[in-house]
Amino acid sequence: MIEITSTTEQETFAVGRRLAGLLKPGDVVLLTGRLGCGKTLFTSGIGDGLGVDEPVVSPSFVLVRSYRGFLPLIHADVYRLSSTGEFEDLDLLSDAAEGVLVIEWGGVVAQALPEDFLTVDFEVKDDGQRVLSIRPSGSWRSRDLGPLAA
Ligand SMILES: Nc1ncnc2c1ncn2[C@@H]1O[C@H](COP(=O)(O)OP(=O)(O)OP(=O)(O)O)[C@@H](O)[C@H]1O
Ligand SMILES: [Mg+2]
Repeated sequence: MIEITSTTEQETFAVGRRLAGLLKPGDVVLLTGRLGCGKTLFTSGIGDGLGVDEPVVSPSFVLVRSYRGFLPLIHADVYRLSSTGEFEDLDLLSDAAEGVLVIEWGGVVAQALPEDFLTVDFEVKDDGQRVLSIRPSGSWRSRDLGPLAA
């Protein structure tokens, strides 16, 4: 596990941007943490790093938004889903097979995912700082996450 403290929006964005540099087709990233902790901002950093040339905005009302970059970016927010069955019905994993799937509130759907994914959990401190805990699962454990902390 890697922990990164972010004091500003720009730092959170930059960690997302660095993560983009590590991503490969088929990768799944879960973002967890309370409302307003920075999940969408982090995803916009990923989008920037993937060369997406339009703003990455919250998918909370539409559930899923897709962007074109060096790799396709599929960005989902499953906050309003009430079951893993509803998540499976969206069939996001097959849509994202050639690209990168980023899921906000992903903890709810973790059991419906393949074993290889990266979790980024955001904790908001009393002073507003964010502590990002980055936890690899499955084959992510053997990947080099060092560049994220740079
Ligand atoms: N260090 C920081 N990192 C990230 N966001 C920060 C930070 N400091 C302040 N913020 C603010 O927190 C908010 C994060 O909003 P964002 O939409 O990214 O959160 P979210 O986790 O996606 O929320 P939701 O749960 O509603 O989807 C922004 O208004 C941003 O400016
Ligand atoms: Mg959001």
